[in-house]
Amino acid sequence: MRMKTENRRIVMVTSYDYPTAAIADAVGVDSILVGDSYGMVVLGYENTIPVTVEELLPVCRAVRRGATHPLLIGDLPFMSFQVSSEEAIRTAGRFVKEGGMEAVKIEGGSEVSKIVASVSRVGIPVLGHIGVTPQTATLHGGYKIQGRSVNSSDKLVGDAKSLAEAGAFGIVLEMVTEEVAKVITETVSVPTIGIGSGRFCDGQVLVLHDMIGLYPGLTPKFAKRYVDVAGMIKQALQDFSVDVRNGVFPEERHVFRMDEDQRARLDSKRKI
Ligand code: KIV
Repeated sequence: MRMKTENRRIVMVTSYDYPTAAIADAVGVDSILVGDSYGMVVLGYENTIPVTVEELLPVCRAVRRGATHPLLIGDLPFMSFQVSSEEAIRTAGRFVKEGGMEAVKIEGGSEVSKIVASVSRVGIPVLGHIGVTPQTATLHGGYKIQGRSVNSSDKLVGDAKSLAEAGAFGIVLEMVTEEVAKVITETVSVPTIGIGSGRFCDGQVLVLHDMIGLYPGLTPKFAKRYVDVAGMIKQALQDFSVDVRNGVFPEERHVFRMDEDQRARLDSKRKI
């Protein structure tokens, strides 16, 4: 909230393991999201629907061990919060108590406001998520850009207001037209975090695997690729294979040696 009022942009990134969480921490990102995109970019699922709480909790713990400074947010998976406010509170509680998260993210607009209010009320901060909501994308006809029409804009602004009123401390805007994302950002007092929603959000989030070129699937148009890690890993593995096959790895500096006296004893034993 302070960053929004001070006009400082919020940096959020996903992380799904200890090493990348430690790197994100060292770099000073403001927030890490343990998102359900984990199911796609790490587990290879086709979409985020199958992801479970049991799959995400160990990932949360690994990220917690790697990162102490950024705000850690865990994504409540599909069907882990929708049935009732009680279920949502229970699941959110597990992300905090067992996963070490400091906040949770809940996908959906005004239809989940009651749930957002219940979870916030017990003291667990909630990040909302509107626009393209991958958990219910099938219902909305796939990953379609949101906010192309005035009607759609009204619905999104209404959803954002309703989430903010319910107590959400921020709202992710996924694949919302830049114009509508700007209106939402200027309308609600809580920060908006954009992903594919243009330049006027209060912060930006990207899936790390998209950003570093580690996901073999499609990279969305909005994701900037800063480095080709898949290419680097491929090159390293090719070099390793050549070295092993040519007998040039391991080298002298990679081996362990016996003490001289033990080696002499071994040699003399072999001569007998
Ligand atoms: O799971 C995820 O990575 C997300 C981002 C797209 C915001 O929800």
